[in-house]
Amino acid sequence: MKGIILAGGSGTRLYPMTQVVSKHLLPIYDKPLIYYPLSVLMLAGIQDILIISTPEDTPIYEKLFKNGCELGLHISYKVQEKPRGLAEAFILGEDFIGDDRVCLILGDNVFYGQDLTKILRKVISSDSSSVIFGYPVKDASAFGVVEFDKNRNVISIEEKPKEPKSNYAVPGLYFYDNSVVDIAKRILPSERGEIEITSINNYYLEHEQLKVELLGRGMAWLDTGTPQGMLKASEYVEAVQSRQGFYIACLEEIAWRRGFIDDAQLRLIGDKLKMTDYGKYILSLLDEEHK
Ligand code: DAU
Repeated sequence: MKGIILAGGSGTRLYPMTQVVSKHLLPIYDKPLIYYPLSVLMLAGIQDILIISTPEDTPIYEKLFKNGCELGLHISYKVQEKPRGLAEAFILGEDFIGDDRVCLILGDNVFYGQDLTKILRKVISSDSSSVIFGYPVKDASAFGVVEFDKNRNVISIEEKPKEPKSNYAVPGLYFYDNSVVDIAKRILPSERGEIEITSINNYYLEHEQLKVELLGRGMAWLDTGTPQGMLKASEYVEAVQSRQGFYIACLEEIAWRRGFIDDAQLRLIGDKLKMTDYGKYILSLLDEEHK
C-alpha cells in the first residue's frame, strides 16, 4: 500500500500565522504538524510516501525529509499548483500509486490512541475497496458527515452540511483500492469549486463498496483548523508526553520499532539531537528496559 500526505492548500483560515509559512510546518507542541500524519502512515507500516504541497512549500518538505532514507522510508514529492480539492491527490499521485492501493491522510490531521495501530493493521489487511472513519464530535458541520438510516447503515456522506444529520464527522484518513484514480478523474467540482473527497466516498457508497469504521472514545482526533485547535492539540501532546513519558509522533521511534531502521541508525539520529529532550528520548529508547 502507498501513502499520500496532502499538505498544500492556502491556509487562509490561520492568517496571519500562515502568511509565509505552511500550516503543516507550524509546531504542535514540540514538532511540526506534518510529523503527526506521517507517523500514522508509518504506524500503518507504509514506507512509500508521496508528499503533495504548494509550489512554494514543496522544496521545504524536501529539505526536511529528503528522500526519507534516514527513517527507512521512500519519500517523494509532487506540486499541486492550486488547491483544487482533496481528490486531486489521486490524479497528481497517479504514477506514484501505480497498480497499488493507497492511503490518503490530510497534512493537518492529528490522531492518537491506544488502538490506532490495531485499527490501521485491520484496515490494511482487509479486502474492502474503501475504508473511511466516523468520529463523534459536538458539531460536525465543519466536516464531511456520515448519515445513517435507522438500522445504522450509512446512507450518505455530506460535505459541511449546515444541519448535520449525525454527529459523526469523517476524519482526514482514507483507504482506497486502485480504482480511486479513475474515480477522481471523473468527479465534478462542487459549488465551492473543489473536487471533493466526499464525492469519491459517495461514489464508493453508491457502488456498495464503502466501509465506514466508527471510532470510539479511546481515540483522539484533534482539530488543528483554528489557532485555538492548534493550542489545544499542543496542550494534549504536552500532557501525554510529560505524564506518561511516551512521545506522540516520534518518527524515529516508530521507524525503529517497525524495523525500518536499526539500533545504529537510531543512535546516529539521537546523537545529532541530544541537546534536546526529543534527542534524549530517542537515545533512551536504546536502554535495555525500553526494548
Ligand atoms: O479534516 C477532515 C475534513 O477535511 C473532512 O471531514 C472533510 O470532508 C474534508 O473535505 C476536509 O475538510 P477541510 O475543510 O478541513 O479541508 P481543507 O480545505 O481545510 O484541507 C484539508 C487539508 O488538505 C489541509 O491540510 C490543506 C490540504 N489541501 C486542501 C485542499 C482543498 C491541499 O493540500 N490541497 C487542496 O486542494
